[in-house]
Amino acid sequence: MASPTLFLDFVDQNSDKFISRLGEAVAIPSISGDGSRRPDVFRMSAWLDGQLKQLGVTTKLVDLGKHVMDGQELPLPPAILGRIGDDPKKKTVLVYGHYDVQPANKSDGWDTEPFQLVVDEKTGRLIGRGSTDDKGPILGWLNVLEAHKALGIELPVNMRFCFEGMEENGSEGLDDLIKSEVAKGKDGWFHGVDCVCISDNYWLNSRTPCITYGLRGLVYFKLTVSGPARDLHSGVFGRMVHEPMTDLIQLMSKLVASDGTILIPGVDDMVSVADAEERAIYEKLDYSVKDVEEAVGAPITLSDDKVSVIMGRMRMPSLSLHGIEGAFYGAGAKTVIPASVSGKFSIRIVPPQTPEKIEPLVVQYVQQEFAKLKSKNKLKIENLHDGRPWIADYKHWNYEAARRATEAIYKRSPDLTREGGSIPVTLTFAESLGVNVLLLPMGRGDDGAHSTNEKLDRSNFIEGSKLLGTYLYEVAAVKA
Ligand code: BES
Ligand code: MN
Ligand code: MN
Repeated sequence: MASPTLFLDFVDQNSDKFISRLGEAVAIPSISGDGSRRPDVFRMSAWLDGQLKQLGVTTKLVDLGKHVMDGQELPLPPAILGRIGDDPKKKTVLVYGHYDVQPANKSDGWDTEPFQLVVDEKTGRLIGRGSTDDKGPILGWLNVLEAHKALGIELPVNMRFCFEGMEENGSEGLDDLIKSEVAKGKDGWFHGVDCVCISDNYWLNSRTPCITYGLRGLVYFKLTVSGPARDLHSGVFGRMVHEPMTDLIQLMSKLVASDGTILIPGVDDMVSVADAEERAIYEKLDYSVKDVEEAVGAPITLSDDKVSVIMGRMRMPSLSLHGIEGAFYGAGAKTVIPASVSGKFSIRIVPPQTPEKIEPLVVQYVQQEFAKLKSKNKLKIENLHDGRPWIADYKHWNYEAARRATEAIYKRSPDLTREGGSIPVTLTFAESLGVNVLLLPMGRGDDGAHSTNEKLDRSNFIEGSKLLGTYLYEVAAVKA
């Protein structure tokens, strides 16, 4: 059952209005990872709550308590639960999204102000932080609601919403909320949900839509090496004392090889080798080494073999070094010996890996390697946050509905993909609700989520809104 033409036309006719609403959302710098922006994350929750209410959604803002970030105690932004429709004859779809975004400063290399949505008429790009991750997709759902309200047509399904403001920071507090709602049984917010749809990932390339059935998990570590009671002058103390930075660099150099191999014993070994049948799945995808080169802006793939490059993201674990806190950073040539430095790295994990299996391997290895340095400095290892990997049954009717919707809107079959990124709550929904979860992306592979000049193409926003609406109709029509 395709979407009514009226709905599709409404989306086209109101595209400018929808884009200006995206502009409003982007203008609120709801950066969850920056303590000083916490009031903006709250402002964003109020804005989104207001929009939902206006569109006829009943909402409940759930206080998730407080947390400590970088030594500062902060209130967690609320989860926004919403519901519209209670027709027992209809299926019930739960939609998840996040209203927080990554940090962005013009000085990072943006061509435009990151928190001011720029509509580039020439390229059709809507440029701004959060445009694709994840404000554009969230607003896609609002567009669907608005069209139905304005046209006076009933939604084809009952809808439930769960929006959070801490996703970019490990979704703190959300798992507990979901579990406690589920524990309420019939009175819980998610009671009666038949399937979940999350629009928070991207096409593989910039041509072919996809639907996604897997995500990698994540374990994020912080290694702190401390020694002197204060920063030292390297001319005065150099070669007299153990230097924390020297030790830390040694440790960090032993985690991953330049070819991507994870050097922590036991981590790579946990994952099976792909057989010919599995390789064939990746071979079929509309994705090439050239696409990767274009997306990253340089010819630097780990291999020239398409399948091994794709598998690196979709079915292999990876370890990335992210940064060193406390090190000298910036202009000039300061001759300091930093007193305490923290190296941050994370491991993306795939089944059958879990944070519980990975963490002890990492801790033991790092401690062993530190002992070999014979340093008198102190080492501390912390797990900042983690999440398990997730894989769904893509033969489920939920995927069938998404495939049909994609074919209706884009006139082609979607690629079936696994993602390298993480959305920690996905597995929680799948397990605690016991229903199928689908990832239905709006944006393209070159959108630059988390990067400078993040964008969403106008056509992806508009056709993507139609896609989300059409998906609801296909869910209503498909045989469960
Ligand atoms: N939208 C992404 C998840 C994602 C990333 C999907 C790449 C597909 C490809 C999400 O907002 C995100 O950035 N997640 C974090 C989670 C982490 C902080 C636990 C991530 O993957 O780094
Ligand atoms: Mn996201
Ligand atoms: Mn993100």
